[in-house]
Amino acid sequence: MAEEITRNESVEQRKKDHLKPFRQGGVNARDASTWLEHVHLLHDALPEISKDEIDTSAEFCGRRFSSPLFITGMTGGTKEAQTINRQLAQVAQELDLGFGLGSGRAMLDHEELTETYMVRDVAPDIFLAWNLGGVQLLHTEVTKISKAMDELKADALCVHLNPAQELVQPEGDRDFRGVLDAISRLVKGFDWPIIVKETGAGISKKVAGMLVDVGVEWLDVAGCGGTSWPGVELLRSGKEDDPNAQALWDWGIPTAAAIAETRKQAKGIIASGGIRTGLDAARALALGADMAGVASPVLQAWFSAGKKGAHDYLSGLKDGLVNSMLLAGCKDIPQLQDAPRVVTGPLLLWIQQRNLEQTGV
Ligand SMILES: Cc1cc2nc3c(=O)[nH]c(=O)nc-3n(C[C@H](O)[C@H](O)[C@H](O)COP(=O)(O)O)c2cc1C
Repeated sequence: MAEEITRNESVEQRKKDHLKPFRQGGVNARDASTWLEHVHLLHDALPEISKDEIDTSAEFCGRRFSSPLFITGMTGGTKEAQTINRQLAQVAQELDLGFGLGSGRAMLDHEELTETYMVRDVAPDIFLAWNLGGVQLLHTEVTKISKAMDELKADALCVHLNPAQELVQPEGDRDFRGVLDAISRLVKGFDWPIIVKETGAGISKKVAGMLVDVGVEWLDVAGCGGTSWPGVELLRSGKEDDPNAQALWDWGIPTAAAIAETRKQAKGIIASGGIRTGLDAARALALGADMAGVASPVLQAWFSAGKKGAHDYLSGLKDGLVNSMLLAGCKDIPQLQDAPRVVTGPLLLWIQQRNLEQTGV
């Protein structure tokens, strides 16, 4: 029992530690970027479009969204996390956005924490994704996961892959064997769609192919250039003078490169990792994503101005996407995905060296 309590406290403490740096400024890539700045949508000086007629609706995971935007999974397991989840879910309801809960490991280990993930009563219509770590699947019965999905009334399960974070986290996992098999077993008997996501280091063509081969249809590439999880763990552990941990701060496939790597593989992809503005989202969609996902800025906006702060930030993101579409002469998302663009710099080299198909040039 004593051990149980210590463990519960340590999971809760970790959850609290993980939120801490996002109260002010977040933990962003240092020298890396998303490379979305190398995707240039062509300016249309004669768009002949009224802003009001722009249709941003898009389909993902069997659901039609009025905007192709997703608040990706962040938290759960503490009192504060409960408030954050419930208020962000309400914002998602108001703006018709997808919403992800944070890792449900705490809830699986401690049933009494389930309520910190419960949002359906305040957000009856949102597309709601629960979240578990790939390594966690190795130790969890499918029936237990299904029961939680029912309890939360979730629409999909996000399975996160985060080896870079785990390696820098002092108490993190070190053995990543068997995760693909566990995903494969889950996909077979599961009643909900599964979205496999990274957490800021991106997904390659090879990994996307392996996932698609075992039946995964939906990916969130969560590339490098936004929140750095090695960075969060490094600050948390106080190992700031460890050069080998520091070297991993910017580890990963830049988000734009991850989109180019995966866009032809899965049925649909969310582009996330460093999406900060509507123009970032527009560039990601033009490059081949189906949705754009955002995490840290939403949380930071919540910490600075509560639910209204998150609402204002996300409304701004939506409006920024519409403005970008108008300036690129696109009336709807299919037109944006087909819009002429120029890819420059390291992103172009990456696409060429990796023999990835260039679209919409
Ligand atoms: C405070 C915080 C907690 C997070 N917790 C999770 C998590 O539990 N599960 C997960 O899959 N991703 C988690 N993420 C990762 C995000 O979903 C996202 O993939 C990543 O932060 C990159 O997006 P960003 O640059 O917009 O923050 C978390 C992110 C933040 C900021």
